[in-house]
Amino acid sequence: MPETKQEKVRLLGVGAYVPAQVMTNDDWAKYVDTSDEWITARTGIKRRHIAAENESSADFAVAAARCAMSKAGIKADAIDEIIVATDTPEMRIPDTASFVQARLGAREVPAYDLGGGGCYGFLQGVDIARSRVLSNGGNVLVVGLQLLLRLIDWKDRNSCVLFGDAAGAAVVGTSGEGPEILAMASGTDGSQTSAISLPVGGTKMPFSLENAQQNSHCQVWLEGRAVFKEAVRRMTQAAEAVLAKAGYKVDDVARVVPHQANLRIIEALAKNLRIPMEKVFVNLQEYGNTGSASLPLALSEATEQGLIHKGDLVLLTAFGAGLHWGAALLRY
Ligand code: ACO
Repeated sequence: MPETKQEKVRLLGVGAYVPAQVMTNDDWAKYVDTSDEWITARTGIKRRHIAAENESSADFAVAAARCAMSKAGIKADAIDEIIVATDTPEMRIPDTASFVQARLGAREVPAYDLGGGGCYGFLQGVDIARSRVLSNGGNVLVVGLQLLLRLIDWKDRNSCVLFGDAAGAAVVGTSGEGPEILAMASGTDGSQTSAISLPVGGTKMPFSLENAQQNSHCQVWLEGRAVFKEAVRRMTQAAEAVLAKAGYKVDDVARVVPHQANLRIIEALAKNLRIPMEKVFVNLQEYGNTGSASLPLALSEATEQGLIHKGDLVLLTAFGAGLHWGAALLRY
């Protein structure tokens, strides 16, 4: 058999978009019975950014995509596939990816959304993009975006203070510079679908006047403590799995860029992995939990701040509704 040489799949460019308007913890205290002290102590979040009234999901996706494409040094006609991971789409039908394809001026390439995977969505997109690039070649654009503050209940203090609006994107391909994706690992436990859910609006619980009157159409249900424990356990598991797959040890990792949900979750993850917090990138104090935008936003900032160097082994890990989890190992 002739030897086949596996191409190196890379993140050719990573970019993000964050809206200008900021909402502090004190601002939230004007809407719900909460305080800067409670939110800071329980989550580490100080501020989050919020979409302007005239902005919607496709605007966010296009802005982040343009940023990633510019970093990758490619134009829209070089994109061969578009994946948008979001739980807050432009509309229910059609998908956000269709808006993005047209707005970017991309060719008539495959474009589709991944929805419902919450904060895990971006990594799921990168995993799919990686295998599409390996089989078809070309460049796949992956966008993660969240405008949850537009859809959730602003009276529910259990959830509203946790989230922020943002978008992030990456171009996945083989021709160009950028970190190589050495390995990826992922998993799902569908026995815990109620741990993070927004049930109203699907076929099991269609929109109705009654649930609108009770505000349940915008209620994100979070089993906070269970999610906390599972997030730590599963991100640890994914991180260990991806390191084993690629044949590395935790000590080889120069930087961990985790999903930014809660500082205490990140600290527990670092403790489990026996990795010092100095190696762990955290920006949730500024953005809150931005769902599927969280990883590309964090990676893009860590790079811009000069915290990642050529040759570094970088570990990404995320966890979200489903429950889904995963990790990726990058060599810069
Ligand atoms: N301000 C003040 N008090 C609040 C607030 C608030 N914003 N929200 C809840 N509380 C109160 C509750 O009413 C409850 O009061 P009670 O004890 O009188 O009933 C109490 O605070 C809750 O306390 P705990 O459950 O001990 O809070 P905990 O330390 O678990 O923190 C949190 C809650 C931040 C949600 C945490 O469990 C968490 O981070 N969970 C996982 C993250 C998460 O769910 N993220 C959402 C998306 S999923 C993901 O990204 C992984």
